[in-house]
Amino acid sequence: RRVPAAPRAPAGTLAALREEASVCTRCPLHEKATQTVFGEGPEDAHVMFVGEQPGDQEDLAGRPFVGPAGKVFDQVAGEAEIDRQSVYVTNAVKHFKYEPRGKRRIHQRPNMGEVTHCRWWLNLEIELVKPKLIVAMGATALTALTDTKHKLSDIRGQPIRMGKERTLFVTVHPSYLLRIPDERLKAEEMALFRADMVRVRELM
Ligand code: URA
Repeated sequence: RRVPAAPRAPAGTLAALREEASVCTRCPLHEKATQTVFGEGPEDAHVMFVGEQPGDQEDLAGRPFVGPAGKVFDQVAGEAEIDRQSVYVTNAVKHFKYEPRGKRRIHQRPNMGEVTHCRWWLNLEIELVKPKLIVAMGATALTALTDTKHKLSDIRGQPIRMGKERTLFVTVHPSYLLRIPDERLKAEEMALFRADMVRVRELM
């Protein structure tokens, strides 16, 4: 499937960009999703957090990171003294991808084509917000933000220069922490995520 041509005059403000994204049909994910879940936060935020894609609750609320993964994010960011109101929070993919199972909607990972189509919006968000620091949470965000194929575990927790004025920091996705069944391992991974968020705070 070809990536459609970009509109001739891309939106010049976040509000206009959000409006354009609300009617996005660049990939088929819009057909089943309730709405586009665009990023949110100040237009002049110094830091941008990028997740994977909205989940069930985000799809219904129209806001990123408001479900279980969002609770982990808010809690750990808060402990690291990162104020969610002052940062920009978004996703690599802006529509919820799922398979219905009974009454439940089971999250499906976006594929490379969907990430590539949706990168159009992410790149424009970055262009408008101009964050000094971008935090990729999880492999999908990392894929959307860099062309080179990095393994998340190889570059996690170390600031990486992204051009002259921007730093990329890579950590795990909060949903990953929720999926760890073993309590001891979960606590260890949670501590590592906390340490990453403290490092992010220092880099801000
Ligand atoms: N997971 C994400 O990656 N983003 C959200 O907004 C919610 C869950």
